[in-house]
Amino acid sequence: MRVSVVGTGYVGLVSGVCLAHVGHDVVCVDLDADKVDAINAGSSPIHEDGLAELLGGVVGDRFRATTDLAGAIAATEVTILAVGTPFGEDRIDLGQIVAAAEQIGAALADLDRYHVVVVKSTVVPGTTEEVVGPALAAASGKRIGQDVGLAMNPEFLREGVAVEDFLEPDRIVLGGVDERTLEVLSELYSVFESTPILHVDPRTAEMIKYTSNALLATLISFSNEVGNLCAELGTDVTEVLEGVHLDRRLSPIVDGQRVSPGILVYLGAGCGFGGSCFPKDVKALVAHGEAADVPMPILRSVIDVNEAQPEVLLDRLRRHLEPDGARIAVLGAAFKPGTDDIRESPTLKIVPRLREAGAHVVVHDPIALPNVRAALGEDGIDYEADLEVALKGADAALLVTAWPEYAALPELLHGSDVLVVDGRRMLSPADLGRYDGVGYPG
Ligand SMILES: NC(=O)c1ccc[n+]([C@@H]2O[C@H](COP(=O)([O-])OP(=O)(O)OC[C@H]3O[C@@H](n4cnc5c(N)ncnc54)[C@H](O)[C@@H]3O)[C@@H](O)[C@H]2O)c1
Repeated sequence: MRVSVVGTGYVGLVSGVCLAHVGHDVVCVDLDADKVDAINAGSSPIHEDGLAELLGGVVGDRFRATTDLAGAIAATEVTILAVGTPFGEDRIDLGQIVAAAEQIGAALADLDRYHVVVVKSTVVPGTTEEVVGPALAAASGKRIGQDVGLAMNPEFLREGVAVEDFLEPDRIVLGGVDERTLEVLSELYSVFESTPILHVDPRTAEMIKYTSNALLATLISFSNEVGNLCAELGTDVTEVLEGVHLDRRLSPIVDGQRVSPGILVYLGAGCGFGGSCFPKDVKALVAHGEAADVPMPILRSVIDVNEAQPEVLLDRLRRHLEPDGARIAVLGAAFKPGTDDIRESPTLKIVPRLREAGAHVVVHDPIALPNVRAALGEDGIDYEADLEVALKGADAALLVTAWPEYAALPELLHGSDVLVVDGRRMLSPADLGRYDGVGYPG
């Protein structure tokens, strides 16, 4: 099929490249001409495992990028909307969605054949039918559900393993406004024949995405709340949660073997969730609920616990040393391993707090340094890609992102008295001379 993807961020670019990889003809559209040029030159503007290789395999053949949205629409049968949906002052900001829908609608006005528009961006329930549909109809002069198909198709990929998640989806949720739209989408995804496909209405599709993210965020904040109490009571949250994980309803025993489901990753203490989804999506759902006169106290607390958690890590540091005049290595800037995305990363809160307290900070990250340097600037902050160099002369190391290379810290710090404050509980206290961490007793 011939497919346009509007927005070449993490979702749009991965979706576009993967759809081309499985055989579709794809044109990705972005407002950012530099991004478009880079993509057409075969260079991915974002880091995702395997993305550069797949892009290299399709670019100039079944895949291209452009800034010409109308030209892309005219040359395709389906348009996927993958623009940003940030949280605004007090609710989801649908500005990019509305603008893109109006532009797509204007392009559809000149098209004399059926075209399907698919919302892949995460939008609050009701948006596809009540905001995108009317914007498309007004700008195109066409009837939604007859001349123009419309669907909501949430994306569940995880940054860091986005290509793998897209190519091996656990589910495909299709919220179409009519049967014809669903037929087109079934063809688009026909290659994923062994994946369960859920046919629902658009509002349900929208709610499935928010419910999934809200559940995972809740598990994280729950673990952090419990972890903070554990530390106070003199128990170790890692041991406590290990005992919880062994519940057969969380880790089933299948054919005599213990299965360890991926969800357990979210049942662990840390210095809080970040990224471009959980924080904004939970806030958007809470605001949406409250606007509908349905208060959401659990999810509101999920946000509150999360916002306080970077400070918990700093408190653990202060129990051992005063940051003023100290040299602190902050290990990790990406909001999670495997990505260069720093949006809402705890590091963005922790480093300014350390600077305010008079610390000299060196930030290490294997791939996200250009992004964090652009966000935090140079004042009193060094950026170092070599872990050994970053640790040189440090009084303490704060582990903020669970990059696998940090497993080498015990070896690198052997015999030294550098304090390690583990914000992800990925190291064994016994392997380090001076250790503290979230949810750790003592
Ligand atoms: N990042 C994730 O892991 C993830 C996972 C699932 C769902 N989502 C959702 O997908 C959506 C996109 O997220 P993202 O992280 O890829 O966003 P992003 O901010 O990385 O990228 C959005 C892109 O859209 C472009 N854009 C905006 N308006 C445009 C227009 N009118 N025409 C062409 N291009 C336009 C921007 O220039 C930008 O490159 C969001 O709703 C997000 O919540 C994200």
